[in-house]
Amino acid sequence: MTKSNLFYQNYDLLFQSKDYTREVNQILNIYRRKNQKTPRRVLDLGCGTGNHTRELAKIVPHVTGLDIDPLMVKLAKIKLQPFAKRASIINLPIEKLPLKFKFDLTVALFNVINYISTWPELVSFFRGVKTHLTSQGIFLFDAWNGVAALTDPPRAKSWVVKTKLKTIICHLTASSDLWEQKTSLTYDLEVRTNGKRKQDKYLLLQTLWTPFEIRSALNFAGLKLLFCSPLGQPQKRATVSSSTFSFAAIFGFISIIGLLNLKIINPQKTHIVRVANQPTMTCPLTP
Ligand SMILES: C[S@@+](CC[C@H](N)C(=O)[O-])C[C@H]1O[C@@H](n2cnc3c(N)ncnc32)[C@H](O)[C@@H]1O
Repeated sequence: MTKSNLFYQNYDLLFQSKDYTREVNQILNIYRRKNQKTPRRVLDLGCGTGNHTRELAKIVPHVTGLDIDPLMVKLAKIKLQPFAKRASIINLPIEKLPLKFKFDLTVALFNVINYISTWPELVSFFRGVKTHLTSQGIFLFDAWNGVAALTDPPRAKSWVVKTKLKTIICHLTASSDLWEQKTSLTYDLEVRTNGKRKQDKYLLLQTLWTPFEIRSALNFAGLKLLFCSPLGQPQKRATVSSSTFSFAAIFGFISIIGLLNLKIINPQKTHIVRVANQPTMTCPLTP
């Protein structure tokens, strides 16, 4: 990922078509249906500029926004100032969050897990989530459907956002690598303000996890998949052609594999895991 001031400054305008209020209501309803109450403590993991965090802070007593990107955290802190009593924003990875933090609900929304590059890192991200989840807690997240994205890779698109003060022109191009299961997104930005023009680029590398890889990483981390649906349609069942998925996971049984002495060898390249007393297993990431 390369830093681009224009991308950060204009993030909320670039993605203004996302309905954060609706997403948060839907998420809270899923929680309420399962637990018959509103969650007290919520973690917005990968909070970005804090749009879900703010919507959550309007409803639940305590929200924590967590992001590894200091520039996102800076913007989220400003946005959450009016909710200082109910919300805090922290610049840390989930694995480093102090243990005293436990949440009834953790969300990681808008492809946060696609930022993770390797399968072992995905497992440790999920382990971090589990460590901070209360025993009745739910973890809700979304992700690209890697199978659909690899068979029908993301295409170039352009869009323009106009406000009273400026015009933003964004050209998004994507190039995908089947064997690495990655797509590289380039946001070419031009911002016009009072006759002045600024240009900038933002590069983002996303890993196209398949549903199987996600489910097995959850299992390894001791989380159990509750459902996988097309994005924002929790009542429907995901199909191979759904381009983006919503997932819900709960405290699972610690998998037998997790109980054994798990050693991950050469995680960057091979994704081979060796489990004591078990044959070597290969994760289907590499061809
Ligand atoms: C596409 S943005 C989504 C932000 C926000 N959830 C939204 O919906 O607008 C993904 C965010 O996830 C953050 N992120 C990626 N990997 C992360 C990790 N391991 N821990 C915390 N944040 C992470 C990125 O820094 C980025 O801000």
